[in-house]
Amino acid sequence: MRRPMVAGNWKMHGSQATNQALLAELEGHVRPDWPIDIAVFPPYVYLADAVRALEDGRIQVGAQDVCAEAGGAFTGQVGASMLKDVGCSYAIVGHSERRRWYHEDDTLVARKFAAALAGGLKPVLCVGETLEEREARQTESVVARQVDAVIAMHGVGGFADAVLAYEPVWAIGTGRTASPAQAQEVHAFLRSRIGAHDAKMAARLRILYGGSVKAGNAAELFAMPDVDGGLVGGASLSADEFRQICAAAAVHH
Ligand code: 13P
Repeated sequence: MRRPMVAGNWKMHGSQATNQALLAELEGHVRPDWPIDIAVFPPYVYLADAVRALEDGRIQVGAQDVCAEAGGAFTGQVGASMLKDVGCSYAIVGHSERRRWYHEDDTLVARKFAAALAGGLKPVLCVGETLEEREARQTESVVARQVDAVIAMHGVGGFADAVLAYEPVWAIGTGRTASPAQAQEVHAFLRSRIGAHDAKMAARLRILYGGSVKAGNAAELFAMPDVDGGLVGGASLSADEFRQICAAAAVHH
């Protein structure tokens, strides 16, 4: 019912030379008949090159962030319509690294979510709890707050063209992945939270898991009924790892 998606968040890695090599390898690896969506999220300066390198459109391109404003005097910012203009399809909003290091709060993230949609991009909204929050049994209240902020500002309708990603902060870049059961529990909770507003939309919404997804653990995560693919950091920088993760998602469509 839901088409799986595997997204590669490159974060602040790569160069023209390494990107070119990685994308060429990926294009060679990825099978056209896999019934999944695949996207890569390079740093801003490399987006247009990535779009050109992936001309046939089998692998789509997205940005790691987007400005909450549509345009104007905002030095250093990049707007959704610009990202769309160079061929992006998606924009990640609310990644925990941006919440943490750039102090993005739920309100700003909700505004970015709306800006992405208004500019013709599909937002990939990231939510997730820290280790302290999990240990204090606040996981559900934290991710509910993060999702509710978007619903409060724009209604639930925006999720029709969005992707949700559950990324427990304690699992990002740590090699400590959530167990399939832990991921499933939160994914099911998120789906029911959105389902309380619109059950049909919630049933169609893709919820990706992110946090130390690797070739070795992707299959068991994607086997969970509410895990619709992955948002992959470190392992997306290896064409072979990323290919195996995509292959695992293709099995669970
Ligand atoms: P890692 O896969 O490196 O843990 O990163 C996950 C992530 O933050 C993807 O957005």
